Amino acid sequence: MKLISTVVIAGVALVLAAGAYAEGAMPAGNAAAGKAKSTVCAACHGMDGNSTDPQYPKLAGQQATYIFRQLELFKSGVRKNPIMLGMAMSLNPQDMADLAAYFSSQKIMPGVADPKEIAVGQAIYRGGDRATGVPACMACHGPDGLGNPGAVYPHLAGQHARYVDAVLTAWHGGDSWGTDTHASIMPTIARKLTTAQIAAVSSYVAGLHTAVPTESVSSGVNQTAFASSAAQQ
Ligand code: HEC
Ligand code: HEC
Repeated sequence: MKLISTVVIAGVALVLAAGAYAEGAMPAGNAAAGKAKSTVCAACHGMDGNSTDPQYPKLAGQQATYIFRQLELFKSGVRKNPIMLGMAMSLNPQDMADLAAYFSSQKIMPGVADPKEIAVGQAIYRGGDRATGVPACMACHGPDGLGNPGAVYPHLAGQHARYVDAVLTAWHGGDSWGTDTHASIMPTIARKLTTAQIAAVSSYVAGLHTAVPTESVSSGVNQTAFASSAAQQ
């Protein structure tokens, strides 16, 4: 009896957590309007969302649902960053959706992985670490690192290694972007990664990019082999 009620409560909590960022909460975004509103963002994130300074995340090609959610988290102070708090403060949901539509429609410029980090980074990205219970990153972020807009899993491929390393290190040290189920996923994973694994997987995702044209996929080329060689360039 006790077990049953626990299961029911857990189920209700999951439904509530999912509802917190249900798609209905995000207005339809307009990329052209977002472009006009993005001039203030360009100083750090670049005109087209390809930041040159690696401490600022690239926004180009990022999932719109993810950008929208992060802007809400910054504005509410749940994701703590003084710069982005100031930036998000004056944005209403329509501004956030427009900016999300604009940046997500831009093309991310691929980065370069450190050849010395690829073996360890790739092993974690594609297979996790069974010994410590780290799941494969690609299970959620996708084999090519493109993320999943419906589940609000961000695009990682091509992101600056320095930014990815900083975010994973902060989660490893106990930071989180909220207390709901969704926000608990990454801190739980990052806590189990070593400093060396964080550095390796950060470098790996920076160099990860889709090198597989649709034709080669349909002609049977092994996508895993392609993605790993893509990361080495
Ligand atoms: C003065 C520099 C600066 C400006 C201007 C700025 N940002 Fe940021 N932005 C940052 C920093 C720094 C971070 C990383 C915060 C962190 O580490 O949590 C960030 C993070 C973000 C993220 C999270 C990205 C991710 O991958 O999680 C989004 C979305 C974002 N900014 C959108 C915007 C938008 C939209 C604007 C314009 C309205 C803007 N930013 C203007 C510095 C800036
Ligand atoms: C079970 C699904 C899941 C798995 C597995 C997973 N992630 Fe994530 N990841 C997420 C979610 C959800 C977020 C967004 C977090 C939020 O909004 O609070 C995220 C966000 C991130 C971010 C932040 C991106 C940005 O632009 O700020 C990084 C970096 C990241 N994950 C790296 C990894 C790495 C490396 C692994 C493998 C060791 C991994 N993830 C495995 C679900 C997952």
